[in-house]
Amino acid sequence: MFLFKLLVSSLLSFFILLLLKLIYRSTHSSQEHENPPPSPWKLPIIGNLHQLSGNQRSLGRLAKKHGPLMLLHLGSVPVLIASSANAAREILKNHEPMFLDRLASTNIRKITYNFKDVTFSPYGEHWTHAKRIVVHHLLSHKKVLSYKKVREEEVTLVMDIIKESCGSLVNFSELLISHTNNVFCRVALGRKFERKKVKSLIELSVVMTVLIRFEDYMPCLSWIDKLRGLDSTLENHLKKIDEFLEGMIEEHLHKSYIVDEEERFIDVLLEHKEDDDTTSFHFQRDDIKALLLDSFVAGTVQPFSTLEWALSELLRNPKTMKKLQEEIREFAQGKPKVIEEDLAKLEYLNAVFKETMRLHPSPPLIPRELTRDISLMGEIRPAMELTRIKYCLMGYDIKCGTKVFINTWAIGRDPTLWDEPGVFKPERFLSSPIDYYGAYFELIPFGSGRRICPGIQYSKAINEITLANLVYKFDLALPNGEKPKDLDMSESSGALIHRKNNLFLVPTSSSF
Ligand code: HEM
Repeated sequence: MFLFKLLVSSLLSFFILLLLKLIYRSTHSSQEHENPPPSPWKLPIIGNLHQLSGNQRSLGRLAKKHGPLMLLHLGSVPVLIASSANAAREILKNHEPMFLDRLASTNIRKITYNFKDVTFSPYGEHWTHAKRIVVHHLLSHKKVLSYKKVREEEVTLVMDIIKESCGSLVNFSELLISHTNNVFCRVALGRKFERKKVKSLIELSVVMTVLIRFEDYMPCLSWIDKLRGLDSTLENHLKKIDEFLEGMIEEHLHKSYIVDEEERFIDVLLEHKEDDDTTSFHFQRDDIKALLLDSFVAGTVQPFSTLEWALSELLRNPKTMKKLQEEIREFAQGKPKVIEEDLAKLEYLNAVFKETMRLHPSPPLIPRELTRDISLMGEIRPAMELTRIKYCLMGYDIKCGTKVFINTWAIGRDPTLWDEPGVFKPERFLSSPIDYYGAYFELIPFGSGRRICPGIQYSKAINEITLANLVYKFDLALPNGEKPKDLDMSESSGALIHRKNNLFLVPTSSSF
């Protein structure tokens, strides 16, 4: 009996000791060695997926509660959300080398021909070479200047269409996306493409990048992807896109439509198919298609979306529209149109675009991926030191492989950075040094650092000349006596946000 009691009490003590040790280890390891960023509560298996209805907005709401550096779990995948200028600076500048990779997914791998583009290519040799080619042969300052004639001709065509439609309802969304696509196709590919075909191609490729697959986030449920026919839908989309790109290349190789001798971006890509002595780097057919698609989508959708939002905000804010028209009309008075040489002097126009991209950055989330375990930002915490309590900054521990989104949409609406953040007020930039070239983290619509967007000059050039001429030559009104404040400003969902619904306006020739 005594022996039995002894055995029971020793076993009990052993288990209690074991339990205490486990509790000690779990609390101490998480306090001393692991300090993850704050996270909202999550559900088993799906994690925080159910809290993400409407991406940048819902992420912004969650960040208000959990802080500017927040860790979510999409299924089993950790995702870090940075929602303040400081958090963005930490990632894009202070710890840049660890955040140079892009977030990847199965769909993105497929649509980029295995990451052969620039945007989603991992940081490395292919990215360096491909970005250099894109910058040098498509988007450099010199190249952008050389597209001046094309821009001016295409702007004139848009003005002619509007002139013919004065007094009637015009779908400005359609008009503007055709315009940005026409300019891009002429400068990069040497000819325009049929609008309908291009539109569905662009829509397909944008949709594909954001389609969530169980395979990527909850591998145990990947059978659902098959059940809902995701693979065959994807293969169908990919086939259409591939056929279009193949056609583009073949047609170009036979040069049936080239009207001038200018070297186009597509020529450069095709030339790089041969071995290049200086770099011993050459493109395969898939690299060329990936780079064409990458720049084709960005070159069309991005400037379009900014133009469409700028126009929408101006329609919603008639005083701002009036001020912009006054600036341009006063300056260009007597001229048949605004020319590119005038643009540098139009300060308010410049401020209108900054303000547009503060409120409507497209993309609203900048995707990156962490390539090493690191400690970031953190909070002041008490720590015992012999006889006194010392306060120290304890960084948040973030694991290698964590996906990252910088929520530029939320940063642009942060009330600690911007006075009346929801109000469209270009004036805030008139006496401010803030620009969008990546040095001011409160305004980073084009990102920052080594992976910054190479299309800033290109977009600035096409957007400013188009908007300046539009509001110089025409007065624009909402249809059916709709009040400016009632203009629908719903955003599309997806990686690149534009208006959810087309912008219909009634133009009249200005009588100034
Ligand atoms: C208003 C217009 C545009 C906006 C707001 C915009 C925005 C962005 C953003 C936020 C990034 C990610 C930057 C980062 O990770 O730090 C990016 C990357 C990129 N953009 Fe743009 N973009 C625009 C126009 C264009 C145009 C016109 C092109 C080309 C024709 C272009 C090509 C690219 C490429 C190739 C990248 C990937 C760069 C890299 O990963 O190294 N973008 N853009």
